[in-house]
Amino acid sequence: MSGNEWENRYQTGDMPWEKGEPSPGLVDFLAAHPDLTRANVAVPGCGTGHDVRAWAAAGFDAWGFDLAPSAIRLSNEKTQGAGVNARFLQSNFLEDAPPAPFDWLFEHTLYCAIDPSLREDYLQSLLRWLKPGGQFLAVNYMIHDKDGPPFGTTQQELMERFSPHFDLIRGWVPRSYSNRAGLELMLWWRRKPASSSSP
Ligand SMILES: C[S@@+](CC[C@H](N)C(=O)[O-])C[C@H]1O[C@@H](n2cnc3c(N)ncnc32)[C@H](O)[C@@H]1O
Repeated sequence: MSGNEWENRYQTGDMPWEKGEPSPGLVDFLAAHPDLTRANVAVPGCGTGHDVRAWAAAGFDAWGFDLAPSAIRLSNEKTQGAGVNARFLQSNFLEDAPPAPFDWLFEHTLYCAIDPSLREDYLQSLLRWLKPGGQFLAVNYMIHDKDGPPFGTTQQELMERFSPHFDLIRGWVPRSYSNRAGLELMLWWRRKPASSSSP
């Protein structure tokens, strides 16, 4: 979908992805890892910012990015009075440069939202936005749909796309929103140092 189409979804309230709370898998991950070095984290395709606020509440320097101006407006509105510091910018993850390279990048229903023909662009954007050695935490939506968004993926496709540039730290099936139970796969990756990435 184009940026205008995403914006239209917000303006008409047609947002089935909006659950009113952060990804349960992310909440559990942050609770289980209080010892992680606090650093900056980018959340592209952040929607109304629930995941960004969860990272911020855990002490990270959390930034949310979204193509749709209304997503950024709603993110800022929901963050006012939430007791956390989080920053939101309108940005096209597939085309724009990051404001600064990030230590962490969190993926949650952006990969499945973009056209599958753009997945190689997604990988190149990830390499542009994330520092070598940086960590990529993804909540992958493991559906089979070909007529998205959301568009499906498989574990094999994810491994083939990301493992040339990333080492897998851990993968697991997380706790999910009730209508996605058993349909998500969390993959925690560390980007290889620049010199050891395959071309
Ligand atoms: C399915 S929604 C998920 C929103 C949020 N991650 C959540 O789970 O609530 C996908 C979001 O990605 C945004 N988006 C789509 N393409 C994008 C792009 N190229 N760059 C940044 N955001 C994009 C849309 O505007 C939308 O807010």
